[in-house]
Amino acid sequence: MRVSSLRLLALCAGLVSAENGINGWLRYAPLSDDKILQQGLDTLPSVIVTLNSTKTSPVYTAGKELQAGILGVIGESLNITHQTEPAAQSSSILVGTAAAYNAGYGTVDISKFAPDGFWLSIQKGSVKIVGQNERGALYGAFEYLSRISRGNFSDVDLISNPDAPIRWVNQWDNLDGSIERGYAGRSIFFWNGTVVQDLTRVAQYARLLASIRINAIVPNNVNANANSLNNENIEGLGRIADVLRPYGIQVGLSLNFASPQLLGGLSTFDPLEPSVVSWWTEKTALLYKRIPDLAGYLVKANSEGQPGPLTYNRTLADGANLFAKAVKPYGGVVLFRAFVYDHHADWNVWTNDRANAAVQFFKHLDGEFLDNIVVQIKYGAIDFQIREPANPLFANIPKTNKAIELQITQEYLGQQSHFVYIPPLWKEILDFDMRADSKPSLVRDIVAGRRYNNTLGGYAGVVNVGTNTSWLGHHLAMSNLYAYGLLAWDPTLSSEDLLHDWTRLTFGPDPVVLKTVSDISLATLPTYENYSGNLGIQTLTDILYTHFGPNPASQDNNGWGQWTRATATHIGMDRTVKNGTGNAGQYPPEVAAIFENIETTPDDLLLWFHHVPYTHRLKSGKTVIQHFYDAHYEGAKTAQTFPRQWEALRNKVDVERFTEVLFRLTYQAGHSIVWRDSINNFYHNLSRIDDEHGRVGNHPHRIEAERLSLKGYSLVKANPLETASNFTAVAVTATDGLGEAVIKLDDVKSGTYDVAFAYYDVIGGRAHYGAFLNGEPLLEWIGDLEDKLGHAFSNKIDGHSATRVTVKGVEIQKGDELKIIGVVDGIETAALDYVAIIPPGELD
Ligand SMILES: *[C@@H]1O[C@H](CO)[C@@H](O)[C@H](O)[C@H]1NC(C)=O
Ligand SMILES: *[C@@H]1O[C@H](CO)[C@@H](O)[C@H](O)[C@H]1NC(C)=O
Ligand SMILES: *[C@@H]1O[C@H](CO)[C@@H](O)[C@H](O)[C@H]1NC(C)=O
Ligand SMILES: *[C@@H]1O[C@H](CO)[C@@H](O)[C@H](O)[C@H]1NC(C)=O
Ligand SMILES: *[C@@H]1O[C@H](CO)[C@@H](O)[C@H](O)[C@H]1NC(C)=O
Ligand SMILES: *[C@@H]1O[C@H](CO)[C@@H](O)[C@H](O)[C@H]1NC(C)=O
Ligand SMILES: *[C@@H]1O[C@H](CO)[C@@H](O)[C@H](O)[C@H]1NC(C)=O
Ligand SMILES: *[C@@H]1O[C@H](CO)[C@@H](O)[C@H](O)[C@H]1NC(C)=O
Ligand SMILES: *[C@@H]1O[C@H](CO)[C@@H](O)[C@H](O)[C@H]1NC(C)=O
Ligand SMILES: *[C@@H]1O[C@H](CO)[C@@H](O)[C@H](O)[C@H]1NC(C)=O
Ligand SMILES: *[C@@H]1O[C@H](CO)[C@@H](O)[C@H](O)[C@H]1NC(C)=O
Repeated sequence: MRVSSLRLLALCAGLVSAENGINGWLRYAPLSDDKILQQGLDTLPSVIVTLNSTKTSPVYTAGKELQAGILGVIGESLNITHQTEPAAQSSSILVGTAAAYNAGYGTVDISKFAPDGFWLSIQKGSVKIVGQNERGALYGAFEYLSRISRGNFSDVDLISNPDAPIRWVNQWDNLDGSIERGYAGRSIFFWNGTVVQDLTRVAQYARLLASIRINAIVPNNVNANANSLNNENIEGLGRIADVLRPYGIQVGLSLNFASPQLLGGLSTFDPLEPSVVSWWTEKTALLYKRIPDLAGYLVKANSEGQPGPLTYNRTLADGANLFAKAVKPYGGVVLFRAFVYDHHADWNVWTNDRANAAVQFFKHLDGEFLDNIVVQIKYGAIDFQIREPANPLFANIPKTNKAIELQITQEYLGQQSHFVYIPPLWKEILDFDMRADSKPSLVRDIVAGRRYNNTLGGYAGVVNVGTNTSWLGHHLAMSNLYAYGLLAWDPTLSSEDLLHDWTRLTFGPDPVVLKTVSDISLATLPTYENYSGNLGIQTLTDILYTHFGPNPASQDNNGWGQWTRATATHIGMDRTVKNGTGNAGQYPPEVAAIFENIETTPDDLLLWFHHVPYTHRLKSGKTVIQHFYDAHYEGAKTAQTFPRQWEALRNKVDVERFTEVLFRLTYQAGHSIVWRDSINNFYHNLSRIDDEHGRVGNHPHRIEAERLSLKGYSLVKANPLETASNFTAVAVTATDGLGEAVIKLDDVKSGTYDVAFAYYDVIGGRAHYGAFLNGEPLLEWIGDLEDKLGHAFSNKIDGHSATRVTVKGVEIQKGDELKIIGVVDGIETAALDYVAIIPPGELD
């Protein structure tokens, strides 16, 4: 058997070595199974032939990537040649465009290709990778590498074409280097108002994106700074484009609609004003001079305070067409966001509804958008909630090109401090049938352009990677990015298969790892829905601050329109035509009829469409309120299993990623209890309806902090109140910054317990805590989650900062003394909510 020394070295370095996640799923880890390796060696071609020797060509990149991948996976170093004469040897990996291939190597039927498509043929050691274009050839190379990385050396002959031409990622990076809704450090693109000098991370990002067949990046935030278009930044964007080009990725740019005024010094930004038109024409020419392959523009106009054409009583189509005309001569496109709504809506008006806004703003303009415009539509009518019906706009503008906007960054889904594997949610939307004109009208067929015969369309994913080597903050969350790209290519792929492939590439072939990651990941979405917001009520988070922890009251009585209309007796938005906002009527008739009728509305969208008493019976037979209670208890209970399951992978996953993932899953398990109790307490207090199982407000194993003997600590209220157990917490107020809370455990039977401490970890300080049992140290911890999770929580005592730590298996004798010492740091007051002494196997 041939086993190269390089491979042996790599094997010895093996699994236990640290990995920081920087290579994502492109690790090219050595094959560990000797039989499979032998197959690889037996079928390995002897040389890589790339049909383009220009260093900026994606075909050239494909050659380099193949060389690195084969070296990593099989341990063999293949030479690359760029010969243009047919090779004598059949045993090669040949990679190039169809044109180059047909010019001398063989014939491939070009009519079978869509733009960016590829042909991959593996026949007994001879590999042909032929792209419709250079980018397609690179995609084919990554497909080959994915197969061998997963130990699959079977022969194959396939042509793969994208479902849609637009497969973009959006980054919401600000020029100052911060990222809106980014949870993994600072921007890899910008710093201090301009583009960073060292674009190494951008190249690494491009490599990951190319491997999942993404073809464009918009690096700057949709809430765009006009300075993005100054000369320095045009040059910077040019440098970004230069780095992306070898990966077949184009750059696009978010625009600030008022740039002619803010940057150009004009007195107006009226899209029909000739001076404004020429300003944009000239800017666009400058951009294309530096970046001839600029993909185009992304525009957020008249949304959440952003300027736009409505400022001048022009239509949104007037605004979009302005840019469409400017980029048209260069082949550019305009992605125009449909996220236009009034965020000062009057909540007292029963028929007001933010979910109606997109159709109201766009429907009458159908047919007025030029053909290089794509309207970019969020999957639901509100905003990346845990559950929303598919956005009705998809079925309301047949003559307009459409793209679906999905979110990889988990803005409303736990911000990567909780893990949610999102593809099942995306699939539900993509597979949703709008039944337009009573014909099959799947959202995925609509955005691909098939259903309405649109010439353009596709996918935009908001990713927001940052400088952290894990890219997204949570190693497991990278499966979302992986699946996003491949679903944009082929939305019929299954969430389970994508997850399986990703895990195989990211953590290796161990079946225990594969099963564990799969079990955890596939449970996360229903779990998060269970403990955040049920029955279509939305993610019940704090919408007025960071969208992270629980705060159901924040949804209502403000202009943002994420209303629940919860009262003492009823809950839910009445979106019916007969008595509500009429939103159900925005869907084509067959679907409208389903949502209009409470009997046919699925339980999980009940409160999205209907205003009902808490005692309304679901199809499951439970009342709404009892379902809330049960789901929150079930969800938090399931979340406890995640760290437990992950623990089984100790020594099966490298230490660094094992530890970081364990930390986050443990955090999630603790915070899921904060969610559970806050939401349940809120609705229990509001409805005054008790939990049939007596759990809500009743915690047999808790000792409320306010009941301990306190020194230096005083009682405080959390805001909202329900984010503290029994509505009260304690915080150190002593001037020396020292607090002490003591209890004699006279009511605890001697035995072994898990001891949980619920506390508040705010940003702006790193308080120290020490817990002692009979004077012996039990646990010491620091309020430093902002460092460990790389995530800004809150500077207040609330549902974002509330968290808990647990020590397992503590021997306690009746009458033992438990003491907690808190030391203030900065604005962090070492606040405590409760201590729970929990018998093994229980949860409180
Ligand atoms: C080789 O790649 C360069 C850069 O992408 C491209 O301009 C050129 O057309 C390619 N040549 C062939 C023969 O495909
Ligand atoms: C690979 O290239 C090196 C350097 O050009 C050369 O010495 C070597 O013989 C080549 N190997 C094969 C197998 O062609
Ligand atoms: C390997 O790839 C072939 C061709 O795509 C496929 O039919 C087969 O199921 C794969 N084998 C495994 C073990 O995944
Ligand atoms: C940031 O940019 C400004 C100019 O816009 C410059 O004056 C300043 O020195 C820069 N800061 C750093 C730390 O380089
Ligand atoms: C805005 O435009 C509409 C339609 O073009 C027109 O009816 C209306 O009078 C205009 N309003 C103002 C304030 O110019
Ligand atoms: C689809 O649009 C193309 C032009 O873009 C046109 O040639 C074709 O007839 C249309 N097909 C249908 C079914 O409308
Ligand atoms: C990435 O984030 C982790 C916390 O998850 C932190 O420990 C680590 O230092 C960060 N690394 C970088 C390079 O930012
Ligand atoms: C109908 O709407 C009114 C508000 O206009 C509301 O108070 C009432 O509860 C609704 N009726 C039903 C049956 O939902
Ligand atoms: C979610 O809650 C429902 C209702 O209590 C329960 O049937 C389901 O098993 C729960 N799922 C998870 C993953 O927690
Ligand atoms: C309970 O609900 C009432 C309104 O019904 C409210 O005034 C009170 O503040 C709530 N109490 C808590 C602790 O949330
Ligand atoms: C909860 O607080 C109330 C006072 O607001 C107090 O009477 C009650 O004993 C507390 N319950 C527990 C379990 O500490």
